[in-house]
Amino acid sequence: MSDPVFCVIEGDIARITIDNPPVNVTSQAVRAGLMAALDTAETAGVARVALTGAGRAFVAGADAKEFDRPPMPPHLPDVVARIEGFPVPVVAAINGAALGGGLELALACAARIAAPTATLGLPEVTLGVVPGAGGTQRLPRLIGLAPALALIAEGRVISAAEALRLGLVDGIVDDPVVVAATCALPDRPATGSRPMPVDDPAALDKARKLAARRLPGQTAPVAAIDLVAAAARLPLAEGLAQERATFLALKTSDQAAALRHLFFAERAAAALGRKGGDLLDSAVVVGGGTMGAAIAYALAGVGVSVALVETDAAGADRARSNVARLYAEAVVRGKTTAIQAEATQAARHTFHVGYDALPPAQIAIEAVFEDLAVKRQVFAALDAALPETTILATNTSYLDPDRIAEGLRAPGRFLGLHFFSPAHLMKLVEVIRARDTSAETLSTVLHLAARLGKIPVRAGVCDGFIGNRILTRYRQTCDVMLIEGALPAQIDAAMRGFGMAMGPYEVQDLSGLDIAYANRKRLGWARKPGFRYIPIADRIVEETGRLGRKTGAGWYDYEDGKPVSSSRINQLVAAESARAGLLRRLFSDEEIITRATTSMIEEGARLLEEGIADTPADIDLVMVHGYGFPRWRGGPMHYAERLGLAGILGRIDSFAAADPLSWGVPALLRKATTTGRSLTDLTRKP
Ligand code: NAI
Repeated sequence: MSDPVFCVIEGDIARITIDNPPVNVTSQAVRAGLMAALDTAETAGVARVALTGAGRAFVAGADAKEFDRPPMPPHLPDVVARIEGFPVPVVAAINGAALGGGLELALACAARIAAPTATLGLPEVTLGVVPGAGGTQRLPRLIGLAPALALIAEGRVISAAEALRLGLVDGIVDDPVVVAATCALPDRPATGSRPMPVDDPAALDKARKLAARRLPGQTAPVAAIDLVAAAARLPLAEGLAQERATFLALKTSDQAAALRHLFFAERAAAALGRKGGDLLDSAVVVGGGTMGAAIAYALAGVGVSVALVETDAAGADRARSNVARLYAEAVVRGKTTAIQAEATQAARHTFHVGYDALPPAQIAIEAVFEDLAVKRQVFAALDAALPETTILATNTSYLDPDRIAEGLRAPGRFLGLHFFSPAHLMKLVEVIRARDTSAETLSTVLHLAARLGKIPVRAGVCDGFIGNRILTRYRQTCDVMLIEGALPAQIDAAMRGFGMAMGPYEVQDLSGLDIAYANRKRLGWARKPGFRYIPIADRIVEETGRLGRKTGAGWYDYEDGKPVSSSRINQLVAAESARAGLLRRLFSDEEIITRATTSMIEEGARLLEEGIADTPADIDLVMVHGYGFPRWRGGPMHYAERLGLAGILGRIDSFAAADPLSWGVPALLRKATTTGRSLTDLTRKP
C-alpha cells in the first residue's frame, strides 16, 4: 500500500498530500503520516506548507472503521495543534469535500483556498457525536457564533461559495494547490488565537428550539450547541478540553451506535443500485392518483419519459393536474423554476386513456386501486400492449404479487415496487421478489431506485411485506392494550415519548380508518383461527362513521384541526372491554412502550426467520424511513440487540404466558440467545 500522506518539497514550499482513497479519511495512518510530513517540512526549513487531498476529496471525515475502537495516537487534536502552531504558515488547498475532521484540519491552517466544487461542514451530530478536534471552538472564532451554530447544530454541509460568503474560506480558485503555495496571506492571528466570538443568547435559544423540533430526542445536537456557547465564554484550551471530553463520551453512547448502524445500512442499501443494471429511460405508470402521479414525477426528474395511463378522459385530466401540482410545489419550494417545470412536463410526460397508443417502455409501474381483480386486468393489458422485455411492477401495499402476476408471458420480469407516500419525497422503497422475479429484473430495478435517490430494501412476499406487516402487528398490540385498559391518547403520547414521529392512533386518523377496515374484512381477521381479534376499530367505522381527519373525527375529536381525546371513543373502548369481560386496569407509559416495541421486534424476527427480510438492518431501514421509528434508536432490531436479546426473549415468554394467542418466541430469537450469536450473524448469507 502506498503512503497515505506524502510530502514533496519544491524550493521553499512543502506540498503535503493526503492520499487515502477513496475519500482521504483521517485514519491512524493518515494522522501519523501528517505528523511525519510536517516534521519533514520543518527539517527542510520551508517557508510555507500547502496541505491538500488526492483525488476528489480533501478529507471527508473520520475513519468509520475506527469508530468502535479506542482512540489511537496520534489523535486528531494533536495533528490540528501541530498545524496551528507550525513555525511557518500551513495553507489548506481544499480540493473537494472537507468534512468533520477534514474541516477541523483546515480550520487550524493559516488560510483556506477552495476549489469551486469543494463542500464544507461539520456533520458529526448526524452520527450522534460532536466535532472532536476543535471544530466547535475554532469555527465560531472564525465566522461568528450564529453562523457556526447553523452549521454545527444540524450538521449542514455547505458549498464553497457559501463558505466564502461566511468567511470560512479565503478564496475560490480552480487550482487551489498552486494558489495555496504562493498567495499573499492575510495578516491575522491563527484561528485558535482569535478573540472569543461575541455571545449571542438569541441565536443559541433559536438553535436549541430548532434542534428540539428537527432532531427531537437526540443528545448530540444539544451538546454541540452547549460547546459552541462555551466558545464565547472559555479560553481556547478549556473549550477544547470540554469538547474532547464530550466527544469521547458521546462516541460510545447508544445514540451514536444507533446512528452509525443506520449510516452503514443506508450506505449498503445505496450500493445495491451501483452494481449495474440496464439504464431505463422510458416508463409507463398506470393510475395517476396519489401514488402514480408522484412516481411519474420522480421518474421524470431523473430523465425518464413517462406515459401515464388512466381509464377515462376525466381520470387522465385528474392525473395531469396531480402531476402539475407536484411541479408547482417544486417551484414554490425553489427546487426548480417555472420555465424549467413547464419544459420538463412537456418533454417527459404524456397522458393516455387506455393502452392503445403506449410507447414500448422499458418498465411499467402499476398504482391503481388496491383491488386484485382491477390489478390483474391492468397487468393483462400491459402484457398485451408492451414488449415482452418490459419490466412490470406493482405498487400494491397488501395484495399478493404472485396472484397479481398469474398468467403473464414473462413472469421473470415481474416484481413488487412498494413506494411510500409522498412517493417523490420518501426515500424508502420496498423491492419485492415475487415467485419468478429474475436476478436481472431485480438489479435493473435496484439501479433505477439508486438513480431516484431511494433507499431500496429487498423483501419477499407476505401480507404487508416488511413494513406494513410490522405496522399491523404493532397496531394489534396497541389495540390489545386498549381493551385491557389504556386509552388512545395515552398510547400515542407514550409512543411519541419513545421517539416515534407519531402515535399509532394519530396516524390512523391521518390515513383514514376505512382503508385498514376494508383490509381487515378482506383478510377475514375477525374469524382468523388462533388470533386475538380486537374489534374496536371496526366498531368505530361501523357504529360512528368516524373515518379520521377527513371526516373531522376518528380516534380523536378535532378542535381547530387539533386532535383532542374523545369521550365518545373512550366510552366505546370501555364498552368493548366490558363486552369482552375484562376489568380495565392502568397502564404505565413504560409498559406501553415495552409491549409495543417488543411486538415489533418479535414480528421482525419472524420476518427474518421466514426469509421475507434478508437482514435485521433491512428491517431497521424500513421502520426508520417508512414508519417514523426514531432514527437515534437505530430501528427495532438494532434496539433489540442493544437491549440484549435474552431480555427480549424473557419479555416475550412472559407476554405469551398471559396471552398465548398474541405472543410466541420466534425460533430464530431462541437460537440467537442459546448460541450467543447476533441476529445479523445468524442471517448472514454464506
Ligand atoms: P388513488 O385512489 O389515489 O389512485 C388510484 C388511481 O388509479 C386513480 O387515479 C384511478 O383513477 C386510477 N385507476 C383505477 N383503476 C384503474 C385502471 N384500471 N386503469 C388505470 N387507472 C386506474 O390510490 P393511491 O393511494 O395512489 O394508491 C394506489 C396503489 O398504491 C394502491 O395499490 C395502494 O395500496 C398503493 N399504495 C398506496 C400508498 C398510499 O400511501 N396512498 C402507499 C403505498 C402503496
